[in-house]
Amino acid sequence: MDIFERTELLLKEANETSISSAEELEKFRIRFLGTKNVLKDIFAEIKTVPNERKKEFGQLVNNVKQTAEEKFAALQETFQNNTAGKDADIDLTLPGDVVTIGARHPIQIVKNQIVDIFKRLGFAVEEDREIEDDWHNFTALNMPEDHPARDMQDTFFINVNPDVVLRTHTSSVQVRVMENQKPPIRILSPGRVFRNETISARSHCFFHQVEGLYIDEDVSFADLLQTLDFFVKELFGQDIKIKVRPSYFPFTEPSAEVDVTCFICGGKGCNVCKYSGWVEILGCGMVDPKVLENCNIDSKKYSGFAFGMGVERITMLKYQIKDIRLLSENDTRFLEQFKKNMTATTKLSPQEQVRDAFGLLK
Ligand code: DAH
Repeated sequence: MDIFERTELLLKEANETSISSAEELEKFRIRFLGTKNVLKDIFAEIKTVPNERKKEFGQLVNNVKQTAEEKFAALQETFQNNTAGKDADIDLTLPGDVVTIGARHPIQIVKNQIVDIFKRLGFAVEEDREIEDDWHNFTALNMPEDHPARDMQDTFFINVNPDVVLRTHTSSVQVRVMENQKPPIRILSPGRVFRNETISARSHCFFHQVEGLYIDEDVSFADLLQTLDFFVKELFGQDIKIKVRPSYFPFTEPSAEVDVTCFICGGKGCNVCKYSGWVEILGCGMVDPKVLENCNIDSKKYSGFAFGMGVERITMLKYQIKDIRLLSENDTRFLEQFKKNMTATTKLSPQEQVRDAFGLLK
C-alpha cells in the first residue's frame, strides 16, 4: 500500500468510525487529534512523496484532519450533555457542600455597640495611626521623658529610634484631634493598641480601646458622669449603676475609674467581680489644662473630659469569655459558638443575619 492509499484509508476510518460513548469519542480524539496522532506519523513521511505530488498529499492529510475535527466537535456536545447525571461517578443523592457563613467578630460587635451609643450623643468617629511618635503618645499627654507613668505602659519601639512607637493607648488620637480641630470637639476613637506584656488569659500584647473626648466651653465633671451613666445603662442594661473612684492619669485632673454593678451576679458577689459586686470598666477625667495648651487650645476658655476603655475587657465581661486569647486567635470553634449564642438571642431574621454578617444591614 502506498502512502496515498494509507492516507485514504485513514480518511475512510475518520468518516466511518462509529462512536457511541464518551470513552469511544476520547479514543477517537487521541487517535486523530491527540499530541501523538496518526496524521503526524504519516505527514512525517512526506519526504518519500515525489515533489510534484507533495501538494496533493498535503491536501489529503488536511482533509483527514478536518474531517476528524468536525466529527469530534459535533459528537463532543452530544456526549458532554449526556454525561451529567448518567455518569456513575456522580451520585446526585449526596448532600451538597455546606457553605458556612461568617459573622462579625465579637470585638467588632462590641466596638459597634459602643460607637452607636456615643453617636446618638453626637460623638463623631476619628481613627488614626497605630505607629505613633513620642509626642502624641506620651509628651503631649503630660508624660515627659522620665515620667514614671511611661514605665507602666511597656512600650514597643520601632527599630532603634526611641521616637517611633506602637501606640500604647488611643489617647494619642486626642492629641491629634485637638491639634487639628477647633472646639467644640466631640469625638470617639476606637482602635488597636500595643503593649510589651506577657500573653496570658488576662492580658495580651495587642488589644483594642475606645477613647472619648469632649471639649467645649463650660464642660464639667457632672457632664462626664451624666454621659457615662447614660452609656453604661445603654450597654449593659437600665438597672446597672456606676461607681466613680478617684484615680490618677497624667493627662486628666481630676481622674477617676468607673465601676459598674456586676451584671453577672447583679451586685451580690461572684467570682467575676471577685465578690465585690462591682467591675471596673474604664478610666476618665477632666482633660488637664496643660494638655489643652500643648495642643494649642485656650485652657482659660475651654474645658473638657476624656475617657478610655478596653474593648476586650468589656467583651469578656459582657459575654463571659474567660480567656482574652480567644479574641485574637480566630479559632473557628470559638467563633462558631459565639455566633450561635448571639443568634440565639438576636431578633434578626435569618436573612437579616446574613446581611449583618456582610455589613449590609442598616
Ligand atoms: N489611656 C488610658 C490607658 O490606656 C485610659 C484612659 C484613662 C484614657 C483616662 C482617658 C482617660 O482618656 O481620661 O490606660
